[in-house]
This record gives sequence, structure tokens and C-alpha cells, in this order.
Amino acid sequence: MTDKKPSTADIMAMLRKKPGAEAPAPAAEAAPAAPPPVAAEAVGPAAEAPAPAAPAAKPKGTADIMAAIRAKGTAPAAAAAAPAAPAAGGAPAAKPKGTSDIMAAIRAKGAAPAGAAPAAAAPAAAVAPKAAAPVATGKSPAEMIQAMRAQAAGVAPAATAEPAKPKLPAKPAPAAGKAGAKAEQPRRSFFGALCAALCTPYYMAWTTLSVIGGFWGLGIARFMMPNTVLELPSKFKVGSIGDYPLGTVSEKYKAARAVWIVHTDSYDGQNLIYALLSVCTHLGCTPSWLDAEQKFKCPCHGSGFYINGINFEGPAPRPLERLGLTLGADGVLEVDKSIKFQEELGQWSDPKSFVKVS
Ligand code: FES
Repeated sequence: MTDKKPSTADIMAMLRKKPGAEAPAPAAEAAPAAPPPVAAEAVGPAAEAPAPAAPAAKPKGTADIMAAIRAKGTAPAAAAAAPAAPAAGGAPAAKPKGTSDIMAAIRAKGAAPAGAAPAAAAPAAAVAPKAAAPVATGKSPAEMIQAMRAQAAGVAPAATAEPAKPKLPAKPAPAAGKAGAKAEQPRRSFFGALCAALCTPYYMAWTTLSVIGGFWGLGIARFMMPNTVLELPSKFKVGSIGDYPLGTVSEKYKAARAVWIVHTDSYDGQNLIYALLSVCTHLGCTPSWLDAEQKFKCPCHGSGFYINGINFEGPAPRPLERLGLTLGADGVLEVDKSIKFQEELGQWSDPKSFVKVS
């Protein structure tokens, strides 16, 4: 007995050595010299088949060993379990066909294959206690190897205790009711959730696309509408004749409508009311009425116009222009800016250009 544990290589070496001595290999089983009777029955066809190799041939590899065990059919476990069945008069035990079968048989036997090999010839009664050996069924190959090492070292395999499982931390007791569940969840403000939802790239992309589409729609709608100029109507009422005394110029509508209402008798000696356009005929500036001087004076280049609109100084080339003026049936004067009358063209004689005051 030694404390040194044999390695896997040692075990395999032992297995390779033992087939020659204890005849687990097919060559040894097929040899006519010393086949045990039980083993010969268990071997069956393998035993009847001619020896494939010389009796002294030994398996060299794990595959050879496994093949020998399969060929023998009385592998440690099979040989240990099989004798019971023939003893009861039933069919002979089935040969292990695969490595899993062999490993299962070894587990059932509870002993290492090398150490159990001699038990193939042992009676069932001798095998039965080994089936309840310390090596329990369902063990892993590592455990099997460990048991084999122990047996090879002459130490009885001790029952391997299962490693203690680490204890999981105790689960905290849940709070009672929905209120407790809600209390555990962290509160999230409404604006925080809204910001998190709106700041996603997916939402921002769709929002940008929607805004651009909206502007495109507005542009198309504006394109479908006609271009209109919002201007004041050309015709507007300026009151009655009595509102404009003789010899006066009213600037009431100058700022809003660029019109002077003039009541004078200085043009051809006629007592007339007419509307003058407050636009200088030089370059379009707006002259001012100088009541003290009784003239219109243009601030741009100094053109001057009499009260009747005739130019008399400055660069203005022609008199101011009259607008259409009519007296309605209701006695209200109405100016029409769409009609213009020029003195140099003889248009001031048109009755639409003045209202004669009797
Ligand atoms: Fe009135 Fe030149 S614009 S004088």
C-alpha cells in the first residue's frame, strides 16, 4: 500500500498489463488454454471465433481496451451482473455495445474495471455485495477514475460526499398589496418620462420630418392661392360741399389717401371744388401746403404750385394732377383715384374732374 495515487496513465498501463494476466482481452478469452467456464459462456461467439491475434498480444490503447471489453462481453460489470441471469435460467446477459453501456455496467458494479475484471468469473453471490460497493451508481467519470486510483493504490474508495451547495441569500419578503409594490418602484416624474420619450432619435426624426412636411404643405397651399394686393378702394367719400369753404385746402385725406380737397375760384374764375393728387410732378415727392404763402411747396427740389395746382417755380415740368370727383344724389362728394386728369392735356375741362359750386 502506498500513498502515491496512480495517474490515469498508470491505470491505463495497469489495464494493459492485466488483460494478459487476467484475460479480459479477446485474445486471452479466445485462448483454449485457460478460459474460465463462466467467462466462456459469457463470451459466446467471441469465444467460438478464431483467435484474431496471438495469445500474448496486448491492447496498447484505450480503444483497444474498450474493444476487448466489448468483444469479451463479460466486461467487469457485465460479467459481474450476467451470472445471475443464467443462473435463473433466463437468456444470457446482453453484451455491452457502447462505452456508455460499459460505464453503466462499471457503475452498477461499483468497482473499477481493472479491479473488477477477476470478478467476471466470480459467482453472483460474490458480485452482489460489490454492486452495493461504496461507489454509488450515477457517478461521473472523474469519480470513477478516482475510485480506480484508490483501488489501484489498495485503498478502499470512500464514499464521495457531494459538495455542499452555497446557500442563496434570503429573498426579501414582498410588501403587502399593490401599494407596497408601487412603493418599491422608484418614482419617475411625468416630465422626466416625457423628455425621455421625446428625446429618442426615432421620435426626433419623425418630428423633424413632420415639421418639414408641414412647411411644404403650407407652401403648396400658398401657391394655390392667387396673388392679391390689399389696397384701399379707389373710390371714397369725402363729405359735403359745405365742409370745404372757398379758398381753402383740406389735408384731411393727404396722409391716408394722398389727396387734397381744394375749393377755389382761381382757375378760369370758376367756383370749383376738386381733388388734387399730392405727388410732385418732378420726381414724385410729396409737397406741403403752405397756407400762409397759399402755395404747395415740394421739399425735394423746391418746386412750387399755386392753390389751383399750376406749377410756377422749381423743376416741376407740369401742374399737379386732378382726380375724379363727383357729387352724389345724397350731396356727398366722392373721390375716384382711378381717374386722373392732366391740365397740359386739356383734361381739366372734363366735368368729372371737378364739382362746380353755384
Ligand atoms: Fe418735387 Fe423735385 S420732386 S421738386
